[in-house]
Amino acid sequence: MSDQIEIIVNGSTHSFPLITGSENESAIDISKLRAQTGLITIDPGFKNTGSTKSAITFLDGEKGILRYRGYAIEELAERSSFLEVSYLLIFGKLPSEQEFKVFTKEITNHTLVHEDIKTILDGFPSNAHPMGVLSSLVCSLTAFYPASLDPNRSAEAVNLSILRILAKMPTFAAWAYKNKMGHPVNYPDNRLDYCGNFLKMMFSLPTEDFEVDPVISEALDKLLILHADHEQNCSASTVRIVGSSQASLYASISAGINALWGPLHGGANQAVIEMLENIRKDGGDTQKYLNKAKDKQDPFRLMGFGHRVYKNFDPRAKIIKKAADQVLEKLGIQDPVLDIAKKLEDAALNDPYFIEKKLYPNVDFYSGIIYRAMGIPTEMFTVMFALGRLPGWIAQWKEMRENNEPIGRPRQIYTGKNLRKIDG
Ligand code: SDX
Repeated sequence: MSDQIEIIVNGSTHSFPLITGSENESAIDISKLRAQTGLITIDPGFKNTGSTKSAITFLDGEKGILRYRGYAIEELAERSSFLEVSYLLIFGKLPSEQEFKVFTKEITNHTLVHEDIKTILDGFPSNAHPMGVLSSLVCSLTAFYPASLDPNRSAEAVNLSILRILAKMPTFAAWAYKNKMGHPVNYPDNRLDYCGNFLKMMFSLPTEDFEVDPVISEALDKLLILHADHEQNCSASTVRIVGSSQASLYASISAGINALWGPLHGGANQAVIEMLENIRKDGGDTQKYLNKAKDKQDPFRLMGFGHRVYKNFDPRAKIIKKAADQVLEKLGIQDPVLDIAKKLEDAALNDPYFIEKKLYPNVDFYSGIIYRAMGIPTEMFTVMFALGRLPGWIAQWKEMRENNEPIGRPRQIYTGKNLRKIDG
């Protein structure tokens, strides 16, 4: 392919460079388009528009490929740990044994949060959605660590902010859950590993002993790896654009949490289980709901199906589906919702509408079934997604800052009223 393209505007020919990435993807660099032609482009939802060059995650939607810093998701899910993958995404390489030891110890040392944050938590009614609690608690870190407000302070200061939020997010997530349950919060137990500490903060009660179930802890670690990053998805793009104004890491992550909350994005895992439960209560007639999803007059969508990038299978969905079977078998749980999910998947994968529109199960279709098996309530599912996506958001924010990217400010085409006078 040539290294430039030409377009003709009002009889004049204009050339624009083509850039090609390390996986041979190409893009037209239109950074001079308006200056040269007076034109802009428009692309609602940015379906055909790249916002940046990035070395963090590679997706191939046609081949169902997902790699973090060049490593295949299948290999990382099988052989790595969430903390090791977090280090890989943020610092660009797998840590040496010594580097990982130091990283793990530093995170462990920052798990405790300022006692005054409990006052903020207590201000939320127990019916508050945990995602709203989580984004507020994360943003409150700007008050307890005012030095974090300056993203240009120093590499050491930024690194400390990164360690703090990686360490405190499990505490915030567990506290959001305890607030919902009306239970007293638990403090971190630094004798446990990342997932074990989170599970203990979530589920231990003052009235009984608590033991971390290794089956659940291992499944959780794998789920967090699978959710850790996904290139320029809605929430990562939000983190980048908020960070591009030189807002702090904590303010940018808090914005990302709110973007993830939507049912078309991370909120889909909650919506999937609610949909499957409704189908079960309605007699389990999956064909009826497939027909609703295909009916343009019906706003119903098959939650957990379809993807902006994957027009083949979502590699994460395949791994999670297998893990769901294993976890339920190990825990001896028969979940009728899992049977409905499989029936729905089989029907959809053989339905011409879904085949033609290339709609396959995505990461959210099966993840909720594992979270249920762990005893996590539906409203906490997207919090679990945020816990996993945190290192990806951090890596995207850090890359944007280190590349000195300009403040994000898209153009528009105005379609409103022309000039008019108030008394005209
Ligand atoms: C995540 O971007 C990421 O990487 C996200 C994510 C990540 O890791 O960060 O992978 C996580 O957000 C996964 C997606 C979770 N959302 C859902 O499961 C919600 C259900 N899915 C959809 O709403 C939809 O598929 C999206 C939002 C995921 C993608 O939407 P697009 O790319 O904007 O596609 P579209 O809405 O334009 O749909 C294309 C066509 C439309 O039909 P036509 O207008 O062409 O006739 O497919 C149809 C849609 O109506 N369609 C569906 C459908 N999804 C798309 N029809 C029925 N059920 C669905 N689920």
